[in-house]
Amino acid sequence: MIVGGDGYCGWASALHLSKLGYEVAIVDSLVRRLFDEQLGMYTLTPIASLQKRVKRWKEVSGKQLAVYIGDVCDFEFLEDAVRTFKPEAVVHFGEQRSAPYSMMDRNRAVFTQQNNVIGTMNIMFAIKEFLPECHLVKLGTMGEYGTPNIDIEEGFITITHNGRTDTLPYPKQASSFYHLSKVHDSHNIAFACKAWGMRATDLNQGVVYGVHTDETSLHEELINRLDYDAVFGTALNRFCVQAAVGHPLTIYGKGGQTRGYLDIRDTVRCIELAIANPAKLGEFRVFNQFTEQFSVNDLAKLVTRAGAKLGLEVKATNVPNPRVEAEEHYYNAKHTRLVELGLEPHLLSDALLDSLLNVAVQYADRVDMDQILPAVSWKKISSKPKTVVGTA
Ligand SMILES: NC(=O)c1ccc[n+]([C@@H]2O[C@H](COP(=O)([O-])OP(=O)(O)OC[C@H]3O[C@@H](n4cnc5c(N)ncnc54)[C@H](O)[C@@H]3O)[C@@H](O)[C@H]2O)c1
Repeated sequence: MIVGGDGYCGWASALHLSKLGYEVAIVDSLVRRLFDEQLGMYTLTPIASLQKRVKRWKEVSGKQLAVYIGDVCDFEFLEDAVRTFKPEAVVHFGEQRSAPYSMMDRNRAVFTQQNNVIGTMNIMFAIKEFLPECHLVKLGTMGEYGTPNIDIEEGFITITHNGRTDTLPYPKQASSFYHLSKVHDSHNIAFACKAWGMRATDLNQGVVYGVHTDETSLHEELINRLDYDAVFGTALNRFCVQAAVGHPLTIYGKGGQTRGYLDIRDTVRCIELAIANPAKLGEFRVFNQFTEQFSVNDLAKLVTRAGAKLGLEVKATNVPNPRVEAEEHYYNAKHTRLVELGLEPHLLSDALLDSLLNVAVQYADRVDMDQILPAVSWKKISSKPKTVVGTA
């Protein structure tokens, strides 16, 4: 059961697992499409409705995806979906996943934590009540850890303090109300594993880039979303679109912000590996799901070079950082556990950048230039609802 199966990571994962022969159900409230409508911003790639996507997948692959449209915060709806489909694993992508969105105003900060924390708790309770053997695979984020001045471990760290030693959850230093919602989820899930014997894998995912997977490229109507705006777009994807439309790459502050990144083709493989090798009953596992680290300046250089090869003149500009974050810092995060299970990373290559830039060029006329510059300020968040993003 893929919760959030109409979204960027969820759609690609649902098709990948379906192709592998898993029986797959998509659960989604379609709230992500509503955010787009409300904010007047749209994915670069024209995505079909979920119903059309599912129909097309059946025609292309011969495989049926079950669909449950509803909100996992609605326990009655979730109970019905879980009891009908009886999943062996629930992969939970179904959250509000933009840090800027969660920092727009009080309403959206509260919505983000309510939607994410309650949705996850409902899924935990549904598993406990109806399917206690079911494996919860939950998408967390590397952003839960922040940027400590020591190496980041995979979930846990062994500390000796005043002569005594223990292995403890790695400290969390989230930097937005969105990232904090993921921290709360992690704590709730760890507790449920201990208290109820639930099995769970928390995948602290890095920033995902790319658009095509083997399955989504089978037909135009299966194409995945690609966000380039300053609210939902993520670093490398945004830079490629900016390069394609001749907008200077928007480096926030000094650009030394370093994070873990991965190709969407590796996201789907990581989900496959997590499901095929489930946690034990009562076990709370944490995997850091990324393949390489880059600073924002590194990405700008890579996109500039790849753009030049395609004849694009790419410039970069340092814009005031709307976030509160370190702009020059130490960053070294472990990421061995998924590789031990068999992940063979698609490292960022010129070929991938070419293909991403080509997709961006193909759909360049869909770009709304007003959505590119950041307009959500961490410091200026107010209790008054904000209806237009471009008015920080
Ligand atoms: N995209 C990234 O770079 C990235 C990086 C790290 C972690 N993640 C995590 O991976 C997950 C998926 O991210 P994405 O980029 O695919 O996001 P997305 O916004 O494209 O997809 C999320 C989907 O979940 C659905 N959803 C949200 N709340 C729901 C609810 N209460 N009930 C049912 N459906 C709901 C939305 O409608 C949407 O289709 C998120 O949890 C996100 O935090 C993503």
